[in-house]
Amino acid sequence: MDTVHHIDALRAQLQVWRREGARIALTPTMGNLHAGHLRLVEAARRRADRVVASVFVNPLQFGPNEDFDRYPRTLDADADKLAGAGCDLLFAPSVAEMYPHGRDGFTVISVPRYADLLEGAFRPGHFDGVATVVNILLTLVAPDVALFGEKDYQQLLVIRQMARDLHMPVEIVGVPTEREADGLALSSRNQYLLPAERAQAAMLYAALQRVGEALRAGRRDYAALCATEIERLGNAGFRPQYLTVRRPDLSEPDAADREFRILLAAFLGKTRLIDNIGLITETV
Ligand code: PAF
Repeated sequence: MDTVHHIDALRAQLQVWRREGARIALTPTMGNLHAGHLRLVEAARRRADRVVASVFVNPLQFGPNEDFDRYPRTLDADADKLAGAGCDLLFAPSVAEMYPHGRDGFTVISVPRYADLLEGAFRPGHFDGVATVVNILLTLVAPDVALFGEKDYQQLLVIRQMARDLHMPVEIVGVPTEREADGLALSSRNQYLLPAERAQAAMLYAALQRVGEALRAGRRDYAALCATEIERLGNAGFRPQYLTVRRPDLSEPDAADREFRILLAAFLGKTRLIDNIGLITETV
C-alpha cells in the first residue's frame, strides 16, 4: 500500500486505476484507526477493485472548544492497519494541502435538513465542516462507493443527503457499529476515558438497549422512556445532552411507527461520547 500526501500524486494513481476500469471505493477517516474503521475498509474491499482510505483530522469540523489539537494522530500505525485490512492507497494530506488558502471565505457545504438538530444543535457548524471535507474528498477521488460508520448516524444522513442533492455519482454505504465486549461503541475518543470512566461507559449502550426493549414491548411514550434513561445516566455521573427516539430519517415518531433510531450523546468526565441503535418492532 502506498501513502500519498499530495493531491497530484493521488490523482496520478487514480488515473491509472480508472484507465484499467477499476471500481474504486473510498473510506474517509480522521485516523487513530480501530477495528470499526477496519470493518469499513473490509466492506470497501468487497465492493470495489481498489480501496482508497483518507486520514485527515479536519479542522473545519471541530468547534473552538473541542479536541482538534489533542485528537490522536497516529499515521504510521494507521498505515500498517490499513495495509493489513486490504487498503490499496492511503491519502494523508496536510491542512495546507486541503485548505491552501485558509478558512476565510472558503466554500462551505451545508445540509440544512440535518445540520441543526441533535449533534448539530450541540456542535454548531460541525456538519458544515464534515460535508465540506467529504465533498472535497469525493470530488478528488470520485469513488464509485464511499463507506461511513453508522456510529455517526446523523453524519451518514448528512453525507447521503449531500450526495443526493448534488447529484454525486457515488453510492454512500453505512457500515454497522463495532462494539467492545461490554457494548461500548468503538471510537477514537474512548482513549480519553480514565479507567473508571471506561468501566462505566458501557451504560450508554445499556440505556439504548433498554429503550429498544421498551419499544419492542409496545411502549410508545417516547419522551417518558427517554427521560427515565437520561435521569439514570445523570445519577451515574454522565452529563447527557440528548437521548431520543426518532424515525430513521431523524424526524419525530408518532404512536404508529415501527422503525426507529435511538440516539444519544453524553459527557463522561471531559469526554463526549455518542451512540445509536436502529430497530424495527414487530407490532405497534
Ligand atoms: O467520521 C469521521 O471520521 C469524519 O467525520 C470524516 C467523515 C472522516 C470527515 O472528516
